[in-house]
Order: sequence, then structure tokens, then C-alpha cells
Amino acid sequence: MHAVVIGSGLVGATTALALHQVGIQSSLYDQVNLVQAALTSGGAPVAIDFGDSGGSVLISASGLRVLRTLGLLDEVLASAHPSPTITWYKINGTSPVVLDNINASKKSGESDEALQNPIQILRSKLHLILMSACRKAGIRTFTGKKLKGIIETNDSVTAEFEDGTTATGDFLVGADGIHSATRRAVFRDAAKPEYTGVIGHIGVVRLKENNLKISDACAFYLQREKKQLVCTFQMSEDLAAVQVMTFNDPVPVEGEEYRPHPDLPKESARLADLLESWGLPPHVQDMMRKSFRISPAAIYDLPDLKTYHKNRTVLLGDSAHGMVPNAGLGLLTGLEDVGVLLELFRNFKSPSDIPRVFSLYSQLRVPRGHDAAKRSREMAKQYYEGSQVFGHLLLRFGIFLFNYNLVTFHKIYDCPTEVAGAIKAV
Ligand SMILES: Cc1cc2nc3c(=O)[nH]c(=O)nc-3n(C[C@H](O)[C@H](O)[C@H](O)COP(=O)(O)OP(=O)(O)OC[C@H]3O[C@@H](n4cnc5c(N)ncnc54)[C@H](O)[C@@H]3O)c2cc1C
Ligand SMILES: *[C@@H]1O[C@H](CO)[C@@H](O)[C@H](O)[C@H]1NC(C)=O
Ligand SMILES: *[C@@H]1O[C@H](CO)[C@@H](O)[C@H](O)[C@H]1NC(C)=O
Ligand SMILES: *[C@@H]1O[C@H](CO)[C@@H](O)[C@H](O)[C@H]1NC(C)=O
Ligand SMILES: *[C@@H]1O[C@H](CO)[C@@H](O)[C@H](O)[C@H]1NC(C)=O
Repeated sequence: MHAVVIGSGLVGATTALALHQVGIQSSLYDQVNLVQAALTSGGAPVAIDFGDSGGSVLISASGLRVLRTLGLLDEVLASAHPSPTITWYKINGTSPVVLDNINASKKSGESDEALQNPIQILRSKLHLILMSACRKAGIRTFTGKKLKGIIETNDSVTAEFEDGTTATGDFLVGADGIHSATRRAVFRDAAKPEYTGVIGHIGVVRLKENNLKISDACAFYLQREKKQLVCTFQMSEDLAAVQVMTFNDPVPVEGEEYRPHPDLPKESARLADLLESWGLPPHVQDMMRKSFRISPAAIYDLPDLKTYHKNRTVLLGDSAHGMVPNAGLGLLTGLEDVGVLLELFRNFKSPSDIPRVFSLYSQLRVPRGHDAAKRSREMAKQYYEGSQVFGHLLLRFGIFLFNYNLVTFHKIYDCPTEVAGAIKAV
């Protein structure tokens, strides 16, 4: 079988590796226009460096399990930083509330110690690991391929790109993010992502050369009434990210997410001054001021889809369930999608099985996607609504419940177990 994968972001690249493991060939097609890479590779399997963009992503146990299945866990762990705690402060760095992530992982059902500690990793570093693995597996990546339309026949599917070229496969994977053109082409009446009015500005900073020390793996600073939210993440011994959310920003130009800001010194000074005016602790202001890259990310929320497939097309990652980033579940949910598709194809290998594979995929993934999006919305509400004093008290109470194993935040999702259960139930 051969698959056409639209989008070579974190989920698209992971999907191609998963399909490779079960003997399904695929090629990646991305709208990113890397003239240099395209000219020199002509579509040959080279590791395409999509460049430096974005800050940190958090991956917890369910996602680490998928990376382990793909044989990438050790390499990812070696490039990442463990995040044993999450700390929430008032905006000035007082009144910490600490979540013990290891306790939370155990409670969620993760018994493997090696996976109980969630990790933080630089988004572009993770992407490079995935693209290098794709190259080694002989998976080709074509850039400058913006999807325009999809044509289905009874036994194949063809992607049409804006440059006039096409690609045909037994099935097509839409991994083209929250603004997915695949989703638009296949579910013509599906809801559109809604802009939340929030823009995140993510700075990445080297700690040593700037004499910076941060004591928290992951920290949030909140002033609920003024809707002020800043967070910091440590991604390696030397790298950290600082992210500030600003409200009521005008609708951004689509597709500009994660591109580094061109006028860096001016932008980092502007944002650091903003943090100063909000009363952030000095080290957080410094992190922003000393950032060597600032990327903006416009925050959208995708309304819940009823299904993630139609005919020979299947959606994975943000194209299926793009969500607000407040609970750190976006990529995790996409990695689970990949793990499920992998296990389904391990069990059903013939082209005639595609309808069954996709219908089981939606059956398993839609409820999980809806649940993750709901948790993310609830977390955003907890951050942005309610009073400063009472909101923080409620958070303290909620985190107390998690720490003492009284409540489970997010249940572990083991893809082979879930798939085996669904197949048995048929
Ligand atoms: C500020 C912020 C912080 C986040 N933090 C976390 C976190 O801590 N933990 C976590 O789990 N998740 C986090 N997320 C969510 C996470 O980033 C996403 O869930 C994840 O990147 C989704 O990957 P994807 O591959 O589905 O989509 P994307 O990463 O959006 O990739 C889509 C790809 O498709 C390509 N493409 C788009 N349109 C087309 C087209 N028409 N034709 C061809 N190609 C196309 C794009 O160029 C891109 O390469 C965060 C998100 C944001 C905005
Ligand atoms: C931090 O802010 C709180 C109110 O939100 C205030 O009570 C406290 O005095 C402040 N602490 C410092 C050290 O500024
Ligand atoms: C696609 O699926 C729909 C039902 O969801 C069906 O009516 C249609 O005929 C299918 N198209 C093709 C080309 O298989
Ligand atoms: C596609 O499948 C349908 C139903 O299975 C059939 O009626 C139709 O003739 C097929 N079309 C082609 C072009 O083979
Ligand atoms: C983790 O849970 C144990 C009990 O299961 C408890 O003793 C410990 O204090 C918890 N850790 C934190 C940081 O609350």
C-alpha cells in the first residue's frame, strides 16, 4: 500500500514513520516553501531542516509510549529535559502551587518508571529528529506542495497541489494542522477553527551565556482578572522558553504561526517591558529580553468533529482536533492518533481493510479528541476567568487532589491495548 501524507509537521512525520513500520510506503507533502531544499534534493530523501521555530512542547507518558514503539524514545529523551513538576504562581512569583507530575502519571495508570516523568523538548529539535528518521527510512518529503483539492475514486485517492502537480495513493492522511486544507476538502461543511483573540509570543533563550538560572521545569505566572499569563519551560541544561499570552489581538494572517519575528531586538525589548509592567519576577523579564528568537503563535480552537475519516482520507493531529494549548495535550493527542493507526494497520494489512481501519480509528479517537479539547478549554477558563484570589485557591485545591491521587487528570492511553479492545468488541 502507498499513502499520501499531507503536512510534514510533528504529526505528519511521525505518521510516515509509523506506516513504514507496518510496511506501508508513504511520502510527505508540505506547503512550506524551502527553495533551497527543494532545488538540491529534487524530492530525494534528505533530512529537511524546517528551521528554528516555536518553543517547547511537553510530552507525557501516552506520547512517550508511541515514540518508544517507533524506536525514537532514547534519542528524544537525550535531547529533552524532564519536567517532574508544574508550578503555578501569582504574576509576581509568589504563592506557588506545585503539581507532582510523577504522582499524576502514576495515578493516570503509567507503571513504567522510565515514562512517568513528562519531558519538555524544543519543537524544532523534535522535528529534526523525526525528519532525520524519515530520511533514514527512505521516506521522501516534497516541499512547496500546498494542497488544493482531493479526488477520490473507488480504489484510490489523489491530492492536487497548487503548483499543478498531483500525488496518488491507496489512502490519504491529513496531518496539515488546525487550518487543514484536507479537512476543508473532505468535510465541506465542517466547522472552522475559531480565533480566540490570543497570541502567544514564545522566546527561546540560552541560560548559561546569559547567566540565567531557573528553578522550575515548568512554571505559570497568572493574574486572572487582568488576563495576564506567562509561562517558562526548561528544555535542556542550557535552553529555556518563555511564553507570554496577549489578549484582544487582531486576527492574524493565517499560516504565520511559529515564524520567528524578523525584528528580534525590538520585539524582545517590547515584550520584556510588557512583563516588567505586569510585575513578573526579574529573571522571567530577563529571559524574554535575552531571547535569541521570538515566534508568535495565534491561538485557535477547532470545534469538535463528529468523525475523523471519510472514504480514503483520515485526519490525524491538529487537523482532527486542534485545541487551545492550555493543558499541554495537543501534540500528545496527535501522537496517540499515530499509535492507534499503527496498531490498526498491524492487524489489518490489506487495501480492502482500509474502511474497517478508518472506522475503528474514528471510533477510538473521536471521544479521546473531544475529551482533550474539553480539558484544554476548561484549563483556559480556569486561567482566564474568575477572581485572582478565589481562582488561585481553586487551583490549589484541584492540584492538591491530583498530588494526593484523589483525582486523575488524564488517563493513560496505551494504543495496542485500546486497539485490541476495539477489535475484540467488533
Ligand atoms: C503556543 C503553543 C504551545 C503548545 N504547547 C504544547 C505542549 O506543550 N504540548 C503539546 O502536546 N502540544 C502543544 N501545542 C500543540 C502542538 O503544537 C500541536 O498539537 C502540534 O504541533 C500539532 O502537530 P500537527 O503536525 O498536527 O500540526 P502542525 O504542527 O501545525 O503541522 C502542520 C503541517 O502541515 C503543513 N500544511 C498546512 N497546510 C497545508 C496545505 N494546505 N498543504 C500542505 N501542507 C500544509 C504545515 O506547513 C505544517 O508543516 C502547543 C501549541 C501552541 C500554539
Ligand atoms: C504579590 O502579589 C500579591 C497580590 O496578588 C501581593 O499580596 C503580594 O504582596 C505581592 N508580593 C510581592 C513580593 O510583591
Ligand atoms: C464516500 O463516502 C460516501 C459516504 O460517506 C459515499 O456516499 C460516497 O459514494 C463515497 N465516495 C467514493 C468515491 O467512494
Ligand atoms: C464504484 O463502486 C460502486 C459501488 O461499489 C459501483 O457501483 C461503481 O460502479 C464503482 N465505480 C467504478 C468507476 O468502478
Ligand atoms: C505524591 O503522593 C504521595 C502519596 O501517594 C504523597 O505522599 C506525596 O506527598 C505526593 N507528592 C506531592 C508533591 O504531593
